[in-house]
Amino acid sequence: MSTILVLTASPRGERSVSRTLTTDFARLWAQHHPQDTVLLRDIGHHPVPHVTEPWVVGAFAPADSQNAESKAAIAVSDQLVDEFLAADRYVFGVPMYNLNIPSTFKAYIDQIVRPGKTFAVGPNGYEGLVKGKKALFITSSGGSYHPGTPFAAYNFQEPYLRAIFGFIGVTDIQFVVADSMNQGEDAARLSREKAENALKELAETW
Ligand SMILES: Cc1cc2nc3c(=O)[nH]c(=O)nc-3n(C[C@H](O)[C@H](O)[C@H](O)COP(=O)(O)O)c2cc1C
Repeated sequence: MSTILVLTASPRGERSVSRTLTTDFARLWAQHHPQDTVLLRDIGHHPVPHVTEPWVVGAFAPADSQNAESKAAIAVSDQLVDEFLAADRYVFGVPMYNLNIPSTFKAYIDQIVRPGKTFAVGPNGYEGLVKGKKALFITSSGGSYHPGTPFAAYNFQEPYLRAIFGFIGVTDIQFVVADSMNQGEDAARLSREKAENALKELAETW
């Protein structure tokens, strides 16, 4: 039995491509794996806080420097980290915003990338502590950034996500991309269908 943490980052509701693909995948997953626990976290509609000065004190200062504010700020992060570490697999539904991820998802990443919890600093440098997990990113974008095209270099989303999740130890990463959403009806439909088919297969084989 596994725990699947499913996170949606679009602020849009039913019109959101990434949200719809991600929640449909979660439903399919639950059908194929009824023994698994599927946890939904909707940061698109319920954003997590940004890092603040009390947060930094809570994360980095010694115990005798802590006050009520720093303890409260870091308690939110502790809860998100606990939830993250308790999951075996991650499914992240993420739109492309300005060539990267929405700031809501960056705020989430800032909450869970924590020294001593999700990464360590040892004699050989940094070490990711989140081992043996799998991550699936379901992304949507208006344009397309296919490898080999001139626009590929503008995609800061996928390289960033691979780098930051790899940094904390999550290296088994897959992407399902619904791109071309603003490139005409046909291109959008074809891309979405391709993503839907890939997700149907992954619901059985991932
Ligand atoms: C604020 C904002 C920024 C965007 N930036 C980009 C971008 O840089 N590149 C791109 O291809 N599409 C961009 N888009 C289009 C979205 O990625 C596209 O509409 C996508 O389907 C949004 O995800 P959603 O449908 O899950 O909400 C942007 C949309 C918004 C609202």
